Amino acid sequence: MMGQPPYSRTTIDELLRLIERAGLFERQPMVERKIMHYSSLQTILLVGEGNFSFSSALATAFESAENIVASSIDSEDKVLRVYNTARSSIENLESRKALVLYEVDATRLHEIEELSTRIFDRVVFNLPHAGYFPGGECSKEAIKKNSELLSMFLESATKLLSLDGEIHVTNKVGPPYKKWNLEGAAENYGLYLKESVSFQKADYPGYMNKRGSGAKINRTFRLGECETYMFSAV
Ligand SMILES: C[S@@+](CC[C@H](N)C(=O)[O-])C[C@H]1O[C@@H](n2cnc3c(N)ncnc32)[C@H](O)[C@@H]1O
Repeated sequence: MMGQPPYSRTTIDELLRLIERAGLFERQPMVERKIMHYSSLQTILLVGEGNFSFSSALATAFESAENIVASSIDSEDKVLRVYNTARSSIENLESRKALVLYEVDATRLHEIEELSTRIFDRVVFNLPHAGYFPGGECSKEAIKKNSELLSMFLESATKLLSLDGEIHVTNKVGPPYKKWNLEGAAENYGLYLKESVSFQKADYPGYMNKRGSGAKINRTFRLGECETYMFSAV
């Protein structure tokens, strides 16, 4: 005797409609696109963005920025007010499906709701800097505050890393930047320096580095010799 089919045609049709509505039929596997050592297939968190031009350069190169989370410690209002090109960079990021976050403190990433449930293949902080110091870059205070920023960032970023993920810090080379003890701090959190490569801003079309603090916050500055230090826990 023929049994009843387990599901009626209407149930199957309803199921197909739900799947279609969720966009599961249309989702294509992502095509890999690269810019320098970054890939569209990597989940990438950028912190300490100034005018969002670096993350925007990645988004443009990848075409789809679904895997990018770009963030600034500043409020949206401040970012749009102080950086004249921020709006177009942010629009570029969002139109390519990146997540843009504001008021993200790079030293407390693991406490931020939108980040604490995610893991990243790359966490990137370009030209970290703790602010303007009246005594200058070589003052004890500047070195202490910048060292603290790097150390606390590394500690927090480690908690969001995928198994073979990397933390990238781009910094100027030489004194006083060497005194920020980047490699020493990394060691404290079980990270080792996998590689360090020369950083050229021309490799990222559209990227314009910014001071990020003080009265001349929107001004760019000469980079000179810079390196991207790549740390990993494995
Ligand atoms: C020299 S600017 C570089 C800005 C940008 N990354 C670039 O490449 O143009 C230093 C940046 O570090 C950011 N910063 C300082 N302390 C931070 C913190 N605790 N969390 C996130 N960003 C921070 C500042 O807001 C500023 O934008």
